[in-house]
Amino acid sequence: MLKNRSLVSISDLSEDDVNNVFLKADEMLGYINNSKKINIMNSKILATLFYEPSTRTRLSFESAMHRLGGSVISMADSKTASVSKGETLADTIRIVESYSDIIVIRHPLEGAALLASKFSSKPIINAGDGSGEHPTQTLVDLYTIRKELGDINDKTITIIGDLKYGRTVHSLLMALIRYNVKINLISPENLRLPDYVYNELKNKLNITISSNLEKYIDSTDVLYVTRIQKERFTDKNEYSKLIGSYKITLKEVDKMKDNSIIMHPLPRIDEISPKVDITDKAKYFKQASYGIPIRMALISMIVGD
Ligand code: CP
Repeated sequence: MLKNRSLVSISDLSEDDVNNVFLKADEMLGYINNSKKINIMNSKILATLFYEPSTRTRLSFESAMHRLGGSVISMADSKTASVSKGETLADTIRIVESYSDIIVIRHPLEGAALLASKFSSKPIINAGDGSGEHPTQTLVDLYTIRKELGDINDKTITIIGDLKYGRTVHSLLMALIRYNVKINLISPENLRLPDYVYNELKNKLNITISSNLEKYIDSTDVLYVTRIQKERFTDKNEYSKLIGSYKITLKEVDKMKDNSIIMHPLPRIDEISPKVDITDKAKYFKQASYGIPIRMALISMIVGD
C-alpha cells in the first residue's frame, strides 16, 4: 500500500508496490486512450517545487493530476520563489505542505527530497535530487521495458553514458536488482558508476563494465542511453573533453538484434542521432509518454481515497 507514503528512493518500493503501480498504470492508460477524465482527485492539490529545470517530470506530474481531476500549484523556477531571498528548504516545505496534499520536488542537492520528507506531514515525491536518484523515472523505465518487450526478466540491458552523475541510472540499477537481468555498463573512464552505487550492486547484479559498446551491442535487448550531465561538472573543460565521446547512429542500430529497443530518459543532446528516431527501435518518446499513466497511478495510490 502506498497510501500517504513518500517516495524518496526507488528502494522505498517493494516488488509488490512496483507491480501494483504497473497494474494501476495500465488502468490509467485505458482512461487516457479513451480520452476519459476521472474525477478521483477533485478536492486534492498537487504542488510541484522545481529548483532545477524540467520538461517531462514536472509537466507529466501536472498533466497526471489534471487528468485525475485534481488541482496543481507550481514553483517552476526557483528564481521567482523565496529561496532567492534565502529561505531554507525546510521552511519552504513547512509552508507548501499546508497549501497542498502531495509535494513533488526536484533539487540540485543529493538528499534534498529526504530532508523535505522529514519536514513534511504530506507525502514527498523525489523528482530528482542532484546526482542521487530519480525514482519515478525508474518506474517509467521499467514500465516501458515491460510494455515494449513483455517482461523485464531475462533481458540484457546495456546502459551507456554518464553513469557517474546520471541519477536515472542510479535508481534504475537499484531497481533492477529484483530482476534476472544481465547489465553492461558502458562509459568513458571518467564517467564510471560512483563507488557507493557500485558497492551496493556488485554482489546483487550480473554487471560488466567497459568503454566499448561495439562488443555488447549485438547481444543487447535494451540500450539505455543517457546524456552527459553538463550541470554537474565543476570543471567545464572536463565536460568539453567528454561531450561527443559516444553517439548512437544508424550504424549502431543496424548491429542491434530484432526486437531490441533504445531508451533514453531525455533530454537528449547529441548522444542519439535524430536519424535513429524513425527506426522501430527508438522508444524514447514512447517512454516519455508513459510518464503520464505511471504518475497518475502513483498520485492516485498515494493520495486517493
Ligand atoms: N527525464 C527527465 O527527468 O526529464 P526532465 O528533466 O525534462 O524532467
